[in-house]
Amino acid sequence: MSATKPAAAEADPRLSGRAIKRIAFDEAAIAKRVTELGKEITAAYPGGDLLVLGLLKGSFIFLSDLVRQITRPLQVDFLVASSYGDGSVSSGTVNLVYDPETELEGTNILLVEDIVDSGRTLNRLMTILKERKPRSLEICALLHKRIAEGLKYETKFVGFDAPNEFLVGYGLDHAENFRHLPYIASLQ
Ligand code: PRP
Repeated sequence: MSATKPAAAEADPRLSGRAIKRIAFDEAAIAKRVTELGKEITAAYPGGDLLVLGLLKGSFIFLSDLVRQITRPLQVDFLVASSYGDGSVSSGTVNLVYDPETELEGTNILLVEDIVDSGRTLNRLMTILKERKPRSLEICALLHKRIAEGLKYETKFVGFDAPNEFLVGYGLDHAENFRHLPYIASLQ
């Protein structure tokens, strides 16, 4: 894990004056790991269909980079859940706001998450998705804090073990801000 704090980040106009503590994962580290994940996923699915199911909004940048590194046929769809609202602490309530249009029964589903924090989102979503009777159901998360004690499901593909800090950027937000940062940083 890189833990640099370049002067360029402190002056980043995308932060609108908000100070970041440090850059946890810079652009180069993310790109390298996403390329590796793409190869791992390609190798893990040697045949059959594959539906890459992105959990919005947090996974939108990760998913778009990841699918371009998976060199086999696939389809993309999304679902929307919300648990954090505008705060920094998980409320524990997970609502499904948008349901994928794609037929899930009999499909190989790869659920793509930006971060596993408390694990509540995944526990709830996996229960919902299993009810749709997919052929297989695996999880790919860019970041995993490894603090989710009640997590009932293994995350087969993990980008990075993440520090237990409030992370923003590369899709992750604080009150809907900072999703567009090309790196992942922790806020002051
Ligand atoms: C965040 C994040 C994960 C989830 C992780 O989503 O994107 O989906 O929380 O937290 P958990 O493991 O404690 O459940 P959020 O509900 O903030 O929505 P967003 O993806 O639109 O940012």
